[in-house]
Amino acid sequence: MGVLRLAAALGIALAQQIPLGVHDTQAKNFSWNFNYSSSAPHLFASVHGLLKQWPNTFFPNGHGIVPCEIPAFTSLYHGRMDGDVPPSPEWLAFDIGMSYGIMGGHRNSHMLTYQTKRAVKVLYFDGESATLFGNGQMDTQMLHIYGNVTGAPRDSENRFRGLWDEYARAIGLCSWIEEKRLGGLGWGFEGIVRMNAGFELIWCDFNSPSIRLMSHLNVTSPLLLPEGDEEDAGGLEATRTSYFPLPPEPTKPDKATDPANPPIPPSWRLDWNGEPFGKSQLWNWVIAGTKHYGSNGGEVGQGENRLTVLGCGIMSYYANKFTSQAYARAQEERKYLNLTEGGIWEGQGGNATRHDGLKFLTRRRRLHTLSEVSAADAAVMRADSERVLLSLVNGSATCSGMNWPTMAGEIVQTYGQPLPALLQVVQQFSNVSLGNATIVRSWLAQAREDTHTLLLSFIQYPTDTTADTYQKHSVLFNETYSRCAYQYTRLLDPSEEITVSPEEATLKWAVEEAVGGICNVLVDVGLSVESVWQANFNTEQNARSGPKMSTALRHEVQRWAEGLEELLAWLGWADQWSQCEEKCAWDEVCFIPMWPLIKMNRRMGGGGSGPGRGHGPPGDLYPGYPSNRTRYGPPGRGGGPRLGRGGGRPGDWMNDETDLWQPRCMSSEAFSTAD
Ligand SMILES: *[C@@H]1O[C@H](CO)[C@@H](O)[C@H](O)[C@H]1NC(C)=O
Ligand SMILES: *[C@@H]1O[C@H](CO)[C@@H](O)[C@H](O)[C@H]1NC(C)=O
Ligand SMILES: *[C@@H]1O[C@H](CO)[C@@H](O)[C@H](O)[C@H]1NC(C)=O
Ligand SMILES: *[C@@H]1O[C@H](CO)[C@@H](O)[C@H](O)[C@H]1NC(C)=O
Ligand SMILES: *[C@@H]1O[C@H](CO)[C@@H](O)[C@H](O)[C@H]1NC(C)=O
Ligand SMILES: *[C@@H]1O[C@H](CO)[C@@H](O)[C@H](O)[C@H]1NC(C)=O
Ligand SMILES: *[C@@H]1O[C@H](CO)[C@@H](O)[C@H](O)[C@H]1NC(C)=O
Ligand SMILES: *[C@@H]1O[C@H](CO)[C@@H](O)[C@H](O)[C@H]1NC(C)=O
Ligand SMILES: *[C@@H]1O[C@H](CO)[C@@H](O)[C@H](O)[C@H]1NC(C)=O
Ligand SMILES: *[C@@H]1O[C@H](CO)[C@@H](O)[C@H](O)[C@H]1NC(C)=O
Ligand SMILES: *[C@@H]1O[C@H](CO)[C@@H](O)[C@H](O)[C@H]1NC(C)=O
Repeated sequence: MGVLRLAAALGIALAQQIPLGVHDTQAKNFSWNFNYSSSAPHLFASVHGLLKQWPNTFFPNGHGIVPCEIPAFTSLYHGRMDGDVPPSPEWLAFDIGMSYGIMGGHRNSHMLTYQTKRAVKVLYFDGESATLFGNGQMDTQMLHIYGNVTGAPRDSENRFRGLWDEYARAIGLCSWIEEKRLGGLGWGFEGIVRMNAGFELIWCDFNSPSIRLMSHLNVTSPLLLPEGDEEDAGGLEATRTSYFPLPPEPTKPDKATDPANPPIPPSWRLDWNGEPFGKSQLWNWVIAGTKHYGSNGGEVGQGENRLTVLGCGIMSYYANKFTSQAYARAQEERKYLNLTEGGIWEGQGGNATRHDGLKFLTRRRRLHTLSEVSAADAAVMRADSERVLLSLVNGSATCSGMNWPTMAGEIVQTYGQPLPALLQVVQQFSNVSLGNATIVRSWLAQAREDTHTLLLSFIQYPTDTTADTYQKHSVLFNETYSRCAYQYTRLLDPSEEITVSPEEATLKWAVEEAVGGICNVLVDVGLSVESVWQANFNTEQNARSGPKMSTALRHEVQRWAEGLEELLAWLGWADQWSQCEEKCAWDEVCFIPMWPLIKMNRRMGGGGSGPGRGHGPPGDLYPGYPSNRTRYGPPGRGGGPRLGRGGGRPGDWMNDETDLWQPRCMSSEAFSTAD
């Protein structure tokens, strides 16, 4: 049957039956039925976010534990407030801006630069996992060390140990690696990667031959003099040398113990005044974060590309086998997201707007914590990680070769912007005058262009059609859906005999669920668009009679819009749909609050003598660390920073999210230290 005859047949058939087209879904009590209790979209989105500052800032409570590799000859920085070499373990930053941001601006400021001499394996905890005062950012580490998120009992006064706990964590993780023979001097896993504003590395042993000290400088800078008092420094003689001499290899640095006085960052110190470089010190720390944003708001951007994910072994508490947290989360979300027992959204309810309901759904991952993970689940994760790390160390790891983060990136690139763009076209229908076939035709043609683009490699136009051809679950639907849903993972089907590690099997499930959810809506809407087009606009003759289908078409287009809206909310790529409204100037960055470069709530003790205090916005917004640590109570106590534990609600510092969801261009002026 030729295309024209087919269309004419369809048009006639339609004129006699439903004037709209061949979809009958609007006649039934149709619901899209996304399962918002499923962890698949969360696992998918977190794999996409790995090693990217932007997604991990929007969704700070990491669930992933991921083996990675740092290439040979990567520079790493260690700032100190004394002239010593670091004991072990200690911290290294991938960007000097982060290192100097935390430790610089001091009367005895030192910078040690190291370089890796070989590829080094490290274990990465995703999320904003170096956030000291949060409500869940360190849960994966705590579970790994203690089997619970609260850790060892505090002293008799139950004091919040803040930075001291950091050394306990570092020692705990490094000892675990050593005890389980997962790494040691010059081999295996030698450090832990985490993120706050930038990526950092806990280096387990500075005696390791895997890194070399490149320079060790006293970077203490002359204090600011009252204006007019500057001395003439005199001319420097230019010299040309070949290679700079390396400092001697330090002999056997000590093991770190819980230090009596852990180093404290600038705004906590009383000796801050007069330091000349406070502004650039904070700004360069900001840059250490922003330059590793990764994909964000439609921009492609690089993540922390000095680290490579070892793709066989991506582990996550979002995997289905970890039921304790999943069960607690489903209970909690059922209540505040209005879900059925099966995870289906019951609508926004009450007098709330659909827009707000969808917004909460889209952002739901931001509130996830691991506070309800059972000790048994934590033990399973620990055993899994020992198996995975050991297999990577002893070379027995076998896996498919799939680059999972790259594939997740490809999927987000493919659908992240086109889906909302299609939704926008569909929503414009409310402005289409149904009395004018030309206008309806041009609107539908645009929707058809978009769905065609997205279905191009999956759909084969049928040569023979009946009234059922374009229906949901027709042969055409099923074949198109299958090609679309399994486009990335078809070859990992067991029948192809490709080795898939247990961790990869979980990722395969998450990808198939996420892409399957996308394809379910796309194929449904795409075939429905096609059927409406075929029925009404495929010939000159029926193009002139389009408008008769008004009510049925309105319902059907409404159904498309709801499907796309609920799909976007289910996927939850909220980070990818937030961006600066204007293009930032060359000396600005599109800034999101990255701990500790965040707006401090007065109640929490912001606005002390730290940088950026006490003058007009936005200068007073980002004081860096809270300025007076005596105001910090123990976690979870009134006024304490670790609010929201258990309830799953954002903690105090997460409450003001304006600058996160509506990021702004900022220059270094916003981080001024002038008082
Ligand atoms: C649609 O389904 C809901 C819930 O299952 C039910 O309450 C409602 O009466 C149904 N509407 C129609 C028109 O069948
Ligand atoms: C580093 O330089 C500063 C300023 O010159 C000086 O006060 C300090 O003693 C030096 N530190 C060491 C360990 O030499
Ligand atoms: C958490 O684990 C630590 C160390 O195993 C233990 O001492 C502590 O009592 C546990 N806390 C809770 C609340 O179970
Ligand atoms: C949704 O997912 C949750 C978690 O996997 C599961 O318990 C529930 O049965 C699912 N709902 C439906 C309708 O399949
Ligand atoms: C759930 O229902 C309440 C009350 O009707 C409403 O305020 C809220 O926005 C709803 N949440 C979602 C995610 O639909
Ligand atoms: C929504 O409902 C609540 C309680 O029924 C009422 O207090 C509130 O004013 C309503 N809001 C709007 C915008 O109608
Ligand atoms: C390597 O480690 C794995 C644990 O995952 C173990 O099963 C295997 O026997 C080890 N192979 C060698 C050669 O040590
Ligand atoms: C409909 O048109 C009005 C006026 O041009 C516009 O403000 C509105 O955003 C349009 N609605 C949609 C859904 O495009
Ligand atoms: C339909 O809309 C088009 C474009 O706006 C216009 O040129 C045309 O005159 C309209 N036709 C009728 C019958 O109103
Ligand atoms: C299409 O797939 C659905 C779900 O797997 C199935 O119920 C239906 O029978 C299939 N349709 C055809 C025509 O095979
Ligand atoms: C911190 O604040 C308290 C009262 O709010 C004050 O007594 C104390 O001196 C402050 N400490 C520092 C180091 O500024």
